[in-house]
Amino acid sequence: MTIKRRDPHAIKDAEHATPHNSAVPFADILAARLSRRDTLRGGLGLAATTIFAGAGLSACSNSENGGAVTPSNLSFNSIAGSTADSVVVPDGYVTQTLIPWGTPIRSGGPAFAGDGTNTAAEQAQQIGSNHDGMTFFPLPAGSETSDRGLLVVNHEYSNDTLFAGAGRQEDADGNPTDADEVRKDINAHGVSVVEIARDADGNWALADTGFNRRITAATPMNLAGPAAGSSLMVTAFDNTGTTARGTVNNCGRGFTPWGTYLATEENIQGYLTTTEDPIPEEKDRYGLNANGFGYRWSAVAGDASEVDGEFARWDTTPALLGAATTDYRNEANTFGWLVEIDPYNATSTPTKRTAVGRFRHEGAEPGRIIAGQPIAWYMGDDARFDYFYKFVSDESWDPADATGGLTAGDKYLNNGTLFVARFEFNGRGEWLELDISNPDLAERFSSQAEVLTYARIAADIVGATPMDRPEWSTTDPNTGEIYLTLTNNTRREPGDENLANPRANNSHGHIIRLAEDDDSAAATEFSWDLFAFGSNASADPEFNISGLTLDNEFGSPDGLWFDKRGVLWIQTDNGAPLDSNSNDQMLAVIPSALSGERQIRPDTQAQLKRFFVGPVDCEVTGVEMTPDYRTMFVNIQHPGNGDATASNFPDGGSARPRSATVVVRRTDGGEIAL
Ligand code: FEO
Ligand code: CA
Ligand code: CA
Repeated sequence: MTIKRRDPHAIKDAEHATPHNSAVPFADILAARLSRRDTLRGGLGLAATTIFAGAGLSACSNSENGGAVTPSNLSFNSIAGSTADSVVVPDGYVTQTLIPWGTPIRSGGPAFAGDGTNTAAEQAQQIGSNHDGMTFFPLPAGSETSDRGLLVVNHEYSNDTLFAGAGRQEDADGNPTDADEVRKDINAHGVSVVEIARDADGNWALADTGFNRRITAATPMNLAGPAAGSSLMVTAFDNTGTTARGTVNNCGRGFTPWGTYLATEENIQGYLTTTEDPIPEEKDRYGLNANGFGYRWSAVAGDASEVDGEFARWDTTPALLGAATTDYRNEANTFGWLVEIDPYNATSTPTKRTAVGRFRHEGAEPGRIIAGQPIAWYMGDDARFDYFYKFVSDESWDPADATGGLTAGDKYLNNGTLFVARFEFNGRGEWLELDISNPDLAERFSSQAEVLTYARIAADIVGATPMDRPEWSTTDPNTGEIYLTLTNNTRREPGDENLANPRANNSHGHIIRLAEDDDSAAATEFSWDLFAFGSNASADPEFNISGLTLDNEFGSPDGLWFDKRGVLWIQTDNGAPLDSNSNDQMLAVIPSALSGERQIRPDTQAQLKRFFVGPVDCEVTGVEMTPDYRTMFVNIQHPGNGDATASNFPDGGSARPRSATVVVRRTDGGEIAL
């Protein structure tokens, strides 16, 4: 297969199935799933009561959430699927496009060249490509301001087909030949931090009072936590193993309660290559091979302009007669972490946190933040049959750290415990600790630094549950439950199903949720349940378990976010086939307001409503709101999926398609969705 650096998820899922119309034989599994629902509900009762007592909310008649007030149901009508090359939202809402790829981040910065001729240096001063997860940070820090703030946006990857006039220059083997084009590619990756402000009419625009910056795949970063300074991090660039360069494939996002952003590093194997034969297990388990996604930035190594192996480092093959101190055999070990960024300090150095474990990080959202208790971050590893993790801080949360920046990060994110989930058959589950004190891990590894750097191998050893591509997770503020998208897995064969991943050939994915025992971040056991199943509307009930209709059929759930009112936003990636052939989309539901078991089932499905549909061949990923809930930000990634003839979003005409942030508001200025 020729890989042209299109959507890496499209590459992974090129074998997407046709719409389902046949029965799937998992009646036994489904029966078992239904039989254990009471476990979750019973387990949640105590927790929910505690939560709402603490929040001082008055009781209502909904016994499902322990007497909590729940918002009234969604106030908009579900919109139809769309195949238009534009954004569609419900009646009564308007949209605006903000910061498309190439936008200069500072006033007077280099303008976007519509023919793709911006240089590497110009790209470094412009918004990156392929927007993904994002977070809004009000200005000033610590405030609840809703008309001015910092938008921090991940840029997952780049489409070389859109970069230069007719695509990048390559040799006959598809290797890049122009160092400046490669450097431009590197600069299109990473994260943007931009100040934005709302005017009296509700329109948003870029502002520039000193916060705006680009973080790229070349930006110097610190390494921190147990693996920092270990022999595994030693490179020719830093023989002490305490610094690294750049971040790539930043996908779902994470955040902290102390005002920092967590950029996730997902498909690092798309960039870091090796020609070793055989490939060592430590690289093979992370998917490294000779080609990655075809970027092959190391092909221009040796160019006269190269500084400090900036290109060579992407090839991790040990050099002949080399050593870890003289080559880049360990470069891949410096990727696959969470990168903490302080958006409020434009000169701060991003820090890679190694205590959280190294894998294909998707999202990293904390559970509920409670003073005096440790904080847990829940983290998916997005690959077929990979795992769901949580990191629990050693330190308990002190609200005095609320604007603590990277210093608070040192306190909470450098010391803690990494766990991986095992979902048991009776609706119960266990968090398995990944610690060198486990004799099975001590047999394979010599230090905790190794356990964390090769967390996937450690998770294999302890017996974690192989999942259907864990993507984003998010926490219901009304119940404390953690929801997780499992986007799809068409390689799960009949007979390989487990209760948490009960569909073979799972083309449309599902959403699972769990409740920690005693509502505790540090719990080592939990209860779990299945919340919703993706499907096309006309599929048999055995597949369309949630009873979806044309009003809410969806597939490949990926982005997932609870706003603080308890509205769950579900975003889709990669268009698992739908009856409507709709482009990717975003739906909303209020799980704590659902009747019965609070699941999306045939009797409750109508409360799941489609709110937003993106343009042709895009992914809808990344969602955020201002604290007043009157402005929503939604990212459109890869309109046209790398094909300049398929979409012209957002500029129209014959313009090259550009990823962008879409602002959504109500025309009456009211709160979104309620
Ligand atoms: Fe980059 Fe797993 O989506
Ligand atoms: Ca994603
Ligand atoms: Ca995805």
